[in-house]
This record gives sequence, structure tokens and C-alpha cells, in this order.
Amino acid sequence: MKRDFLSVLDFTQDEIMETFETAQSMKANIPQHLNDLRGKAMALIFEKPSLRTRTTFDIGIQQLGGFSLYLSPAEISLGKRESVYDVAKNLERMVQGIMIRTFGHQIVVDMANYANVPIINGLTDYSHPCQAMADFLTILEVKKSFNGLKLTYVGDGNNVAHSLMFAGARLGVNVTIGCPKGYEPKPEAVKDANEAAKETGARIIVENDPFTAVKNADIVYTDVWASMGQEDEAAERRKIFLPFQVNEELMGAAKDDAIFMHCLPAHRGDEVTDGVIDAPYSVVFQEAENRLHVQKAIMYKLLK
Ligand code: CP
Ligand code: NVA
Repeated sequence: MKRDFLSVLDFTQDEIMETFETAQSMKANIPQHLNDLRGKAMALIFEKPSLRTRTTFDIGIQQLGGFSLYLSPAEISLGKRESVYDVAKNLERMVQGIMIRTFGHQIVVDMANYANVPIINGLTDYSHPCQAMADFLTILEVKKSFNGLKLTYVGDGNNVAHSLMFAGARLGVNVTIGCPKGYEPKPEAVKDANEAAKETGARIIVENDPFTAVKNADIVYTDVWASMGQEDEAAERRKIFLPFQVNEELMGAAKDDAIFMHCLPAHRGDEVTDGVIDAPYSVVFQEAENRLHVQKAIMYKLLK
């Protein structure tokens, strides 16, 4: 049975930890893994822009001996030029795996149902699982263990927030989302996270005061206030989200040894100040690097 990676919750806790072990080996010794996916082809479908996701999937598959094909927003037009079903039925005959970055989450679910090759979610409006995997690998590298940790995500209850809740729930990390009223994570995401958290005891909390949310946090995380596709709302959101800016004062409310995380791209001066993102406790570029290694491990698990 082929496996897909549409959500962090598609992997068990053990599978996530195994994936991290593989990623760490792949990170430590690139030459040793040059034949792991020899000759395998990945199609990379992008309906939104990208720096990290495109680069890390492209370089990642090559570091495992495979190759990739970038399909830009102008090329495929999923569901417009051609149906999602027909795209799936064509590509499954040509490649061994497909990564998709798109808008509606149902598109990746449909692709996974139609295609007989693994589908990897490279970001939808609903979730960004590869990002959360890289983030929790980074947390493990820095904090050495997940035991007793509290991650506070400050800002919009968006795709990144959803995937962080799912990862925290699976791995036993308490996750608090601090967001303005009306910008909470989707109720079904909170429900799914709470369901998964029953197995690990993780606490998932949604809070509307940024300082209360950040109290005792080991990790403070933020993301842009207007995601891709919400550009028209940017000016209005800037006013609403300003009290949720991660600046030195807000970081001061977290634990003394708290780290700062951001999926990037960052809008410096909006959701985060230069003083925070450039501080020694900021691990944002380590997160970006770990996209490469954790995605290699995910591709290996699904395509080998
Ligand atoms: N964090 C992330 O997914 O970056 P890109 O949008 O540049 O791929
Ligand atoms: N929430 C952001 C994440 C970008 C990596 C977006 O969807 O645009």
C-alpha cells in the first residue's frame, strides 16, 4: 500500500521519531545516502511561490540520487486546464512521487486518492506538515528532548499553526496558540490535535492574550499575518495583529532560555522585529536547513 504525507498526523509518533533519525543520518553524512533513491523522479507542483520548499525538495531528491521536475503555477493549473484526476493519472505513469503546494487542501487529498504514487503536501491553506517536521527536528537538536516543553505560536491561527499543533500533539509537546479573536485555528484542527494529544498527554491551548500565551514558553514561534492568497487583507490584518508582534518585550515573557522560530519568509518589522529574528536565540535558518534533511527522510520513507 502506498503511503502519503498530507498531515503530520499521517505518521505515528514512532514513525516521526524514525524519520528524525533518518534525517539526522542524512544530514550528518550526505555521501552515504547518494544512492538511497537512485533513479526516482519527483514531480514538484507549485501553485504558490516558494524559496525553501522548492529548493529543499529539488536539492533533497538529488542528494538521494533521484531527480525532480518543477511544475510552475503557469504550467499545470490544477483543475482548470485539466482535472485533478487527469493530472494524477498522467503523472503516476511518469514519476515515483508528487509534491504539491496549492490552495485548497481537498486538492492534495484528491490527488492522494487518485494517484498510485505517494503524495506529499508542500503547503495548503490548511496545513504545512513538512515545515512542522523540520521545526520539531530543530527543537530536538536544540533542546535534546521533547519532554515537558511548551511551544507558543503567536499570530494567525493558520496552516503553520495547525501543523505545529498536530506535531506537538503527536510528540507530547504542549502547544499554545496566542492569536487575536477571530483568527483562531480552525475548530476541526483543534479537535484533531486534541484527539491525538490523548495518547501523549500534550496540552493544546488557544489563548487571545499574547503575554499570557508566551508565559513559560520554551519556544516562541510566529508566521506572517497575511498568508499567500490573503494579500488583500494585509493592511487590515496589520492593525489587528500589531499587539501580537514578537519583539524583545514579548520574548522577555518567555523562559530565559527560550528560542525563537519562524517558518519564513518573515516580514521583518511586522510579526517579528530584527532584534528578535537576528538574536542568538533565533534558530530560523537552522529550521530552513532542516527542511532539506527531514524531507529527504520523508521521501525515502514513502518512495524507497
Ligand atoms: N517555509 C516555507 O515553506 O518557505 P517557502 O514558502 O519559501 O517554501
Ligand atoms: N502561512 C504562510 C506560510 C508560508 C511558508 C503562508 O501560507 O503563506
